Amino acid sequence: MEVDDNKQDGKLQREQGTEEALSDQKVMAGEALDRRNVWEPSVYYALGKESFYFAGHNISIRESMDAYGALIWPGAIALCQFLENNQHQMNLMDKAVLEIGAGTGLLSIVASLLGAWVTATDLPDIMPNLTFNLLRNTKGRSRYTPQVAALSWGQDLERDFPSPSYHYDYVFAADVVYHHECLADLLKTMHHFCRPGSRTTLLWANKIRFQSDMRFTESFMSSFNATLLSELPQQEVRIYKATAKE
Ligand SMILES: C[S@@+](CC[C@H](N)C(=O)[O-])C[C@H]1O[C@@H](n2cnc3c(N)ncnc32)[C@H](O)[C@@H]1O
Repeated sequence: MEVDDNKQDGKLQREQGTEEALSDQKVMAGEALDRRNVWEPSVYYALGKESFYFAGHNISIRESMDAYGALIWPGAIALCQFLENNQHQMNLMDKAVLEIGAGTGLLSIVASLLGAWVTATDLPDIMPNLTFNLLRNTKGRSRYTPQVAALSWGQDLERDFPSPSYHYDYVFAADVVYHHECLADLLKTMHHFCRPGSRTTLLWANKIRFQSDMRFTESFMSSFNATLLSELPQQEVRIYKATAKE
């Protein structure tokens, strides 16, 4: 009988212990929920996916937080919209297009879907995601298979892209101006591909954010024949068109 009583006590204690543990868990879960509401990570490393509809196609872009070039920026979206809305004035069919700082490749994809022969370039680290997005969205849909190449602004341009052989009708640049140390190299790259006599047209779309952006814009405007094509006040994006000064 004593043994049975002890067993009963033990069972009671275990049950009480289990109830306490459950109630502790509930409190902890509640606290975790409260914490979730006040704390958010500043960097989130999961891959994301963005969907767009341009040039008659659904476009799915893989993004990540690993690098600026793995995100879609407002300049790219603005230029895609501009190209789609102005297909008659800016006909890309069978045109050679180079994009610098292509990032996720959205703009190059749209140019490719609009019939251009596209070379999308960026830093070497950006190549895998850029290639993935370009192939996934243009395979079986584009007139020409888009090319991908590493191009670091201002580096080995004459060696890797010698001017007589590498001629483009258009050079695209979206949101390539922000707070970084390579603005002089960027301008040098623009001039390399947009030379006197080349008849290459440069389209540059950028959200204007900093004083340094304004200084770059001044150098850009004074060193090219440049005009402001479009301004989107809501997005704070400007689209410029430029050709070389002869
Ligand atoms: C702000 S992101 C814009 C990406 C894309 N054009 C868009 O609008 O979504 C700037 C891009 O420039 C590239 N970039 C930055 N510095 C560079 C450099 N020195 N040479 C080549 N590309 C560079 C980055 O890798 C990135 O893809």
